[in-house]
Amino acid sequence: MATVFLGTIVHTKSFSEFESFENGFLAVDDNGKIIGVGHDYQPWLSSNSVQAKDLTEIRLSEHQFLMPGFVDCHIHAPQFAQVGLGLDMPLLDWLNTYTFPLEAKFSDQQYAQEVYKSVVEATLRCGTTLASYFATNHLESTLTLAREAVRQGQRALVGKVCSDCNSPDFYVETAEESASATLEFVEEMRNLESTLVLPTITPRFALSCSKGLLKDLGDIAKRFDLHIQSHISENLAEIAVVEGIFKTSYAGAYDEAGLLTNKTVMAHGVHLEDDEIALLKTRGCSVAHCPASNTMLSSGLCDVKRLVNAGVTVGLGTDVSGGNSVSIQDALLRALDVSKHLDFFKKQNIRGTGEAKTQDPSYVQLKYKQALYMATLGGAKALSLDHLTGNFALGKEFDALLVDVSVIEHPVRRLNVDELVEKFIYTGSDRNILEVFVAGKRVKKECQPE
Ligand code: GUN
Ligand code: ZN
Repeated sequence: MATVFLGTIVHTKSFSEFESFENGFLAVDDNGKIIGVGHDYQPWLSSNSVQAKDLTEIRLSEHQFLMPGFVDCHIHAPQFAQVGLGLDMPLLDWLNTYTFPLEAKFSDQQYAQEVYKSVVEATLRCGTTLASYFATNHLESTLTLAREAVRQGQRALVGKVCSDCNSPDFYVETAEESASATLEFVEEMRNLESTLVLPTITPRFALSCSKGLLKDLGDIAKRFDLHIQSHISENLAEIAVVEGIFKTSYAGAYDEAGLLTNKTVMAHGVHLEDDEIALLKTRGCSVAHCPASNTMLSSGLCDVKRLVNAGVTVGLGTDVSGGNSVSIQDALLRALDVSKHLDFFKKQNIRGTGEAKTQDPSYVQLKYKQALYMATLGGAKALSLDHLTGNFALGKEFDALLVDVSVIEHPVRRLNVDELVEKFIYTGSDRNILEVFVAGKRVKKECQPE
């Protein structure tokens, strides 16, 4: 039976286009596809083959609205086991001290099953309808993560992590093992026959992969037309080592291996140089902006407006557990914070007591509707899945959140559409997410029509 939601509907159409329908409608067919959206329900109904009696109507309250589901472009599923812990070190020390020992434990299938069940539950609860997951080096437990996403009905890209050098003895593969396990993973994923969960090629980062392994992974991605994810230019110490090994820029190291494609998403990009940004743009690669992690691991302030202005698509990532929260709603707010901090940094000493100079008086802060785009359609585009999800365009799958801003605190007056969205973003509580839908199916609580 098809469903129609009646009430406030919001989504974005591009970085600078936000669209809303107050007293609007959104109709979903029984395959979970969007068949109607707009201001005027009755005219749509009359001109459509769908009969009113064949539609279940869900009427939203004045404090509720429907928006596209959140997209997490970068999250390490095993690191959910240490989320909120060990955030007192920069990247390379943090990896060696906490993260590699943790990930090595995922050779244990029972442990993997437990953590992966929890991380998918937690991200769904926060409204993540699409996540791009890093698992670990282990083939078996990576498949466990993929099966768990399928079981819980989350849309996901899942990657077996690949690392064959500059890693501890207890957590490293040979290049041959890594490439052949990746091939096996891709094959097993095909056997899953899921339309929601797909494999993604996942070199951990250039520092922990030999040139040969990167090239093999680039070849596999090309042969099967696969998605690719990795890290780039996150931390200055890391960049110095990569450039020393590869004798080229960080982006150049990936490009030489054929890993920069229009299905590639690179996390961080805090310290990318202009020519690297131009190369990403030319190759059609995207960046996952991970504001929480960039702060927690002291990596730096990423200027996403610089990336966007250069024509690079940017989505958001939680980067759990470098990031301390599984919520993209939190990442959205943190992205706005970082942009404000950059603005202060670039301008605030104009009137200071020191030398009167500014780095960039023309800097324009990220707007909340632009950050909402990055959290939804921008993320879907960054993962090359925007033909399926990310907004409410006709024919896309219904991946959505039903938000109610009165859950935490009843607004003292009626809010207009923009205010509903602002309230949701700036009060920042996922308790306001009442329902989560993926491909038309409820994956959170039962909906309670009024
Ligand atoms: N670079 C390589 N591995 C990682 C990781 O697990 N987290 C982050 N933030 N950066 C990385
Ligand atoms: Zn990461």
